[in-house]
Amino acid sequence: MEVTASAPAKVILFGEHFVVYGEPAIVLAIDKRAYVSADIRKDKQIHINSVNLGISGVFKGESFYEEFGGQKARRTLEPLKIAIQKVLERSKKNVGVSVEIRSTIPVAAGLGSSAAVAAAVATAVGRLLDLELPPEEIFHISYEAERFVHGTPSGIDPTVSTYGGVLLYRKDKGFTQMKVKGEIPLVIGDTRVKRSTGDLVATVHKRSNQYPSIIKPLLKIGGKIALKAVEVLETGDLYALGQLMNINHGLLCAVGVSDASLERLVHAARRADALGAKLTGAGGGGCMIALTKPNKLVHVVDAIERAGGKAFEARMTDEGVRIED
Ligand code: MEV
Repeated sequence: MEVTASAPAKVILFGEHFVVYGEPAIVLAIDKRAYVSADIRKDKQIHINSVNLGISGVFKGESFYEEFGGQKARRTLEPLKIAIQKVLERSKKNVGVSVEIRSTIPVAAGLGSSAAVAAAVATAVGRLLDLELPPEEIFHISYEAERFVHGTPSGIDPTVSTYGGVLLYRKDKGFTQMKVKGEIPLVIGDTRVKRSTGDLVATVHKRSNQYPSIIKPLLKIGGKIALKAVEVLETGDLYALGQLMNINHGLLCAVGVSDASLERLVHAARRADALGAKLTGAGGGGCMIALTKPNKLVHVVDAIERAGGKAFEARMTDEGVRIED
């Protein structure tokens, strides 16, 4: 019988890129989710269909047959095949699996779409095969899928998609759930410029190798901003939080990951009285976030749309990956 699971998207409030170098980052799960339905096949093949991307393919042992999506079908679907194979190995069942992905998360935009899909795939296929996979294992499987997509990910995306909530995350120390006073009213602006996280992580790496005495201290300051934000989130001071977001955005520009499309939206949001605005995720296009007084949300959405972005309000969610009834 078909099983459906879902996992949330995320926004990084503080510390993207710096987190790759061991600095702390703050990330929250939001109310946009990837949905994955899985069903058993008797023929041992793995069929994956991404309805949103219009990509579909079949893995038969080591061979791949593309149904829709051309050249990029295999590259896009391979990480999910890796996740499914890991769950199949755990179950020791000699069967195949079909999965269908329907997601409400913008793709390649810095909202952790690939990690959310991988966590939902592992969870749906696990339940389908009668496994009770603990969250650590879901995290582990989606992290392996992320490694295929991004090279050297910090693990922040699969962690928040698995556990949900607001997390203080460190690459080598894992995460702690954070206490937050009040809401964090956010608008997300999507530049609609697609980019690769792996390429942007490489850009920072290159700049850091070229100017180590300049860039390394900036990475450390990124970590300090995240720790200051922990204190501020506990008091619910949205003005201070906005200022820290603006400073964090300045650092991200300095390490080379903003672009003209992001700057346009960040400045449009600030002009519309957002309390703070910064890029979120890998940058180079993708999404930005604006912290906003609750009564200014619509105003900031309008301003971002007028500047050419696609804007929507985002709410935090405590719900990580889950089975849908
Ligand atoms: C991507 O959502 C966040 C980055 O810091 C990369 C990573 O942490 O793996 C840019």
